[in-house]
Amino acid sequence: MRILVTGGAGFIGSNFVHYIYRERPDWHITVIDKLTYAGNEANLNGLDSSRYAFIKGDICDQETIDAAVSDCDAVIHFAAESHNDNSLHSPWPFVNTNIIGTYQILEAVRKHSKRLHHISTDEVYGDLELDDPNKFTDQTPYNPSSPYSSTKAGSDMLVRAWVRSFCVQATISNCSNNYGPFQHVEKFIPRQVTEILEGRKPKLYGTGENVRDWIHTEDHSSGVLAILEKGKIGETYLIGANGEENNKTVIEMILEIMGKDKNGYDHVNDRPGHDLRYAIDASKLRDELAWKPKYTDFRSGLEATIEWYKENEEWWKPQKNETEEKYKQIGR
Ligand code: NAD
Ligand code: DAU
Repeated sequence: MRILVTGGAGFIGSNFVHYIYRERPDWHITVIDKLTYAGNEANLNGLDSSRYAFIKGDICDQETIDAAVSDCDAVIHFAAESHNDNSLHSPWPFVNTNIIGTYQILEAVRKHSKRLHHISTDEVYGDLELDDPNKFTDQTPYNPSSPYSSTKAGSDMLVRAWVRSFCVQATISNCSNNYGPFQHVEKFIPRQVTEILEGRKPKLYGTGENVRDWIHTEDHSSGVLAILEKGKIGETYLIGANGEENNKTVIEMILEIMGKDKNGYDHVNDRPGHDLRYAIDASKLRDELAWKPKYTDFRSGLEATIEWYKENEEWWKPQKNETEEKYKQIGR
């Protein structure tokens, strides 16, 4: 099996590559990544060139994608612009990569008759009230809020249309908020941990009542592998590990684990259009494909993640100043 992983130098893509490298020793993995500010080839250090290759390239570039796709059996498509805050002040890269890039991949898999698994997000479903007893399922209507989530919704719709109109052999997964090693310091958990490591206070948007459904990135990887190997073509699977926590609780937990006063954080301006709550019902993936998450205790997964950031300062330091400069400009 030869797989092509788009966005494999980013957070979730690189964790997936390491997971597959361990779990499927007879597979060959090619990564294609543009190495934007969010990509880092060093995330893929330690892989043997007999089983792994790297292409620096843009998924929006038709010729590059056509050649890479023709040379593999299956494409796992992670590449995206992924940060909501960025999408709110600069939406174009999101429209370009998330929609045009996905279009180019669909055209290439159609032309070369290759299997595709498309990585998406729970944010396409909009948000839930705090007391809503229902969680997102694959039947929940799409209702995205931000330029980021609307472009991910658009990419999902393209995949569905290519399956129906052209019989492209594709599946889709919509996962909740990931945490773990190699996550860019712009995102919530790494930002707070590295703020504390830099001697500053964590930053909570608004009141902090917003709920995210946390899943360890390794559980995301195992879910994707289950779908790739056992999923039904044309189906959408939601991936989540029942990890709902509000942001205030998570910040307090991080402070406490790092030996600080749990009230030692700042309130900053809220994100415009900030989604209130995400929650995933993953029973289709659990029941039909016998998947189950390994990291069911959020606190211990968080402790391990904090430890990783403590031990890998040389990895996150180069991103830190530029990221905080961007936040300063938008008042968060
Ligand atoms: P990330 O921003 O860390 O990584 C994205 C990667 O894609 C980077 O390596 C970047 O260089 C690459 N990339 C961006 N534009 C590209 C282009 N035009 N051509 C080639 N490569 C390009 O993102 P992430 O958090 O790892 O998310 C990966 C995927 O998972 C995305 O599709 C995202 O929507 C989805 N997702 C993320 C989460 C989460 O919690 N982070 C949850 C559910 C789904
Ligand atoms: O739900 C899946 C999505 O999760 C993915 O599709 C996105 O790619 C990923 O970035 C993530 O989106 P969020 O917007 O939920 O993640 P973020 O880490 O930006 O923020 C998580 C929550 O924390 C959100 O409610 C905003 C809040 N927040 C964020 C930052 C950066 C803060 O309170 N303070 C902060 O400094």
